[in-house]
Amino acid sequence: MTTLWSGRFDTAPDAAAFEFGASLRFDRRLFEDDVTGSIAWARALGRAGVLPADEAGRLEDALRDLLRRGRSDPSSIDGSDEDVHTFVERLLVDQLGDSGRRLHTGRSRNEQVSLDLRLYLRRRIPVLQRAAADVVGALADRAADAGDALMPAFTHFRPAQPVLVAHFFLSHAVPLIRDHARLALARDEADALPLGSGAIAGTAYAIDVDELARDLGFSRVVANSIDASSDRDFAATFLYACAMTMVHLSRLSEDLVILCGDEHRFFELADALSTGSSMMPQKKNPDPLELVRGKTGRTIGHLVALLTTLKGLPTGYNKDLQEDKEAVFGAEDTLLGSLGVVRLVVGGLTLNRTRAAAAASGLLLATDVADYLVGRGMPFRRAHEVVGALVRKLVAEGRDFASLSLDEWRAASDLFDAAVAERITPAVSVAAKRTPQSTAPGAVSTRLAEVRAWVTNVTGQESAGI
Ligand code: ARG
Repeated sequence: MTTLWSGRFDTAPDAAAFEFGASLRFDRRLFEDDVTGSIAWARALGRAGVLPADEAGRLEDALRDLLRRGRSDPSSIDGSDEDVHTFVERLLVDQLGDSGRRLHTGRSRNEQVSLDLRLYLRRRIPVLQRAAADVVGALADRAADAGDALMPAFTHFRPAQPVLVAHFFLSHAVPLIRDHARLALARDEADALPLGSGAIAGTAYAIDVDELARDLGFSRVVANSIDASSDRDFAATFLYACAMTMVHLSRLSEDLVILCGDEHRFFELADALSTGSSMMPQKKNPDPLELVRGKTGRTIGHLVALLTTLKGLPTGYNKDLQEDKEAVFGAEDTLLGSLGVVRLVVGGLTLNRTRAAAAASGLLLATDVADYLVGRGMPFRRAHEVVGALVRKLVAEGRDFASLSLDEWRAASDLFDAAVAERITPAVSVAAKRTPQSTAPGAVSTRLAEVRAWVTNVTGQESAGI
């Protein structure tokens, strides 16, 4: 086992306690960021005159070489070192001797680990954003394919009003566009250089932190060294953005589990994205969607775990903070995998127009009947009562509006006339909507064009079918 602090102690660390505290097995994922940060630190030491220029140059060259080796053979990032920072320093000392031992001058692992995680999120968040945009693109493709197809929208999970199938798909695209922006906020929050904070009080060397921030591509420097040593707000913001995105994927999954199910069958899952039963030959199960729904729990758990870790910490760095990384990596992996599989499932969906349209007809046109009466001068509350009584009668007789004769309509209200039959249909209901966020076909096609333009803009690629 290698540590950076053995000088203080009479004996070697207890093996089990050391193993308990060691983090290389998961923070090796920060290798690239750790080396990147160290290259910039070596240059900053050189600029500050702490190291002669040629020694800073040798350190930089050796670190670049280390980066190349680590990238070409990731399995080499391993050993009995306490953490990734120790690992990198050990390799550097092996290669350069005392020059390697000078790299940590004026620097602490407390700020280094914060730096690494910030750099990591800065390069990984765009990957998640891209995967989210790809799901949005797949939903937009399904919306475009659906054209003027109809389905019921639900409230309280009871059929509520007819909508375009395209409107339904876009209702799942829009939250993911918000998630994309939320991930961008997490990236912005991580975008501050913590170096120069030292272990807690700052550094006694004349490091130009603004220059160092520019060198590492940060837009600003943290404001307070004590705060910086334990600030993981950016990690919590990231976990919140991941959890929120998973919540949206989970709701989409739940909708598809139900609406592809035998009771509805508005959509059909691709065979390749379904699973069978070991016993019941007829089963076609939506396992990938159920897993996304299930994994949302652990992603929310990562956020709650970090917040719980943070809430009781006394001022400054505490080792509890090491718990941030497994939460961040776990949320990232779960979200990336889930976005990928949801994209595949959405890409493989087929629409059963007849079933979906049939479910959009019937008593869920009651609001349109009431609006018809309002259009002829009846106060809405009164119209609601008249139509409610009509619905009560139809339910008792097992019928719907389409079966009413003109005499029956007029028995309910003499404001009904011969035009009523063609006015009370799902297509007319949808076309009657007037607001830009509604299911009116014109509004939906405007929204669809906006969503597609957004996908093109954020991915630099047009989704299929434009
Ligand atoms: N592995 C540690 C972490 O993740 C690195 C920082 C260690 N600092 C310390 N003072 N022990 O937080």
